[in-house]
Amino acid sequence: MTQQGKRLLLVAACALVDADGRVLLAQRPEGKQLAGLWEFPGGKVEQGETPEETIVREMREEIGIETKIACLAPLTFASHTYDDFHLLMPLYVCRRFWGTPEPREGQVLKWVRPRQMRDYPMPPADEPLIPFLIDLL
Ligand code: C5P
Repeated sequence: MTQQGKRLLLVAACALVDADGRVLLAQRPEGKQLAGLWEFPGGKVEQGETPEETIVREMREEIGIETKIACLAPLTFASHTYDDFHLLMPLYVCRRFWGTPEPREGQVLKWVRPRQMRDYPMPPADEPLIPFLIDLL
């Protein structure tokens, strides 16, 4: 529980970067909360998992690629209070991956230049992460 009594949810997110410096965004599918918004892929950290392990698992399950996180520290954290929970979300940058991303869970995937990310409506937790990626990339 957080101070305000809201559940704390830990989600790990990944900025997957290709050889051209583009970042992969995933559009949340119909039927999910925040459907239609574009996010950094990732998911909930399960019990006993490190956030890095979550990324490796989620990228395998959601988009069918193998990843290696070269830098173990997150670039930054999203921290956002939604109506029913508080989300804490480290953002990892991943440049090493094997395979071609393909949508395995009904998402739409798109490679986007960092400066174009603002054209894609994002969940409020993800949006503040954009300037960090623009600076880095
Ligand atoms: O993806 P999943 O639905 O498991 O994520 C749980 C919640 O975390 C979402 O409903 C959304 O509110 C939030 N989330 C987010 N940005 C992400 C991933 C999840 O705001 N990149």
